[in-house]
Amino acid sequence: MKAVVLTRKLPLDHPECFELIELPAPVPGPRDVLVRVKAVAVNPVDYKQRQARKEDDHAPRILGWDAAGIVEATGSDVTLFRPGDEVYYAGDVTRPGCNAELQLVDERIAARKPESLGFAEAAALPLTAITAWECLFDRLGHNAGDLVGTKDKSLLLLGGAGGVGSIAIQLAAVLTGFTVIATASRPESAEWCRKMGAHHVIDHSGDWPAELAKLGFPSVDAIACFSDTTGHWAAMAKAIVPQGKITAIVESPEIPDIGLLKAKSVTFAWEFMFTRAMFETPDMIEQHELLKEVANLVDAGRLVTTMTRHGGTLSPATLATAHREQEAGRMIGKQVLETAW
Ligand SMILES: NC(=O)c1ccc[n+]([C@@H]2O[C@H](COP(=O)([O-])OP(=O)(O)OC[C@H]3O[C@@H](n4cnc5c(N)ncnc54)[C@H](OP(=O)(O)O)[C@@H]3O)[C@@H](O)[C@H]2O)c1
Repeated sequence: MKAVVLTRKLPLDHPECFELIELPAPVPGPRDVLVRVKAVAVNPVDYKQRQARKEDDHAPRILGWDAAGIVEATGSDVTLFRPGDEVYYAGDVTRPGCNAELQLVDERIAARKPESLGFAEAAALPLTAITAWECLFDRLGHNAGDLVGTKDKSLLLLGGAGGVGSIAIQLAAVLTGFTVIATASRPESAEWCRKMGAHHVIDHSGDWPAELAKLGFPSVDAIACFSDTTGHWAAMAKAIVPQGKITAIVESPEIPDIGLLKAKSVTFAWEFMFTRAMFETPDMIEQHELLKEVANLVDAGRLVTTMTRHGGTLSPATLATAHREQEAGRMIGKQVLETAW
């Protein structure tokens, strides 16, 4: 099979940073489906994995953990899919990624893709939808639908216009009764947050707890932080309601001071969307279920794709461009590449 891989650790502008090579086709394990990849999305995890590459590691590595494609073959114990099914999934960061003609993915973390979307529009969704869903419903501990009809609970989403924020705003607005307050620092990212369904937008680049208070929210009931955990930590401790909940998704070199949450008895939970796949947790199939629900909501017209940029056909050059855009940290929505196979 063809694959766009990382071999040596080279700068992004080096023409051989990524290479198109031939590799043996992978063979499905018992619960794997073998997928012909039709479109991929690029996420910060891609450049973080590229940057973390060791200088002396020259083994080809396939990056990419967001895809839509067609099932070609199934492992002996697969019950959820058949060859020919169109699927979407994020995959497992400990296994080869999706920047390839064929990829193996455990059936428990894949789902039928939304029928109303093409492969590119569908590939924009899985990684960020899993993250946002797990933040809202697993880490912040709300059941989908349990606050519908109320508007007296508030949710702050820090970093509303990025990949995760774009779908988190939609999920919160569609499936919960939270008043959704998103943050954005530019007019165009603020406009996008409103388009995704945020009830209010504030700027995260200044004293945002003061902005919140001015808006009529001296405190918020829940916070999901999609950027700069440490930088926002003290402000989150200030803005959260006593006994409120905070979740964050971005690792930090400095450990935030958990003591700041003590007086208010605040619950903090990390979210890492690869946890279930990495550790094969007994509830791993929850990702299949949530992706299925997201597809149903898309097909019902209640969620929209977050794709904002089509970067062309997957190749070493287009992948390098996509990494560069992602690394700049200014993405609004998601960028996608389609494959030629
Ligand atoms: N733990 C997990 O499972 C998991 C899953 C997915 C992603 N992540 C991580 O979460 C982060 C966000 O991912 P993403 O895909 O949403 O990234 P992204 O699409 O690159 O996010 C870009 C957005 O970040 C906003 N932003 C930049 N600096 C900010 C700040 N200081 N505070 C708040 N927002 C800020 C920007 O908004 P403005 O332009 O308006 O400033 C921009 O729209 C990345 O670090 C990624 O690796 C973790």
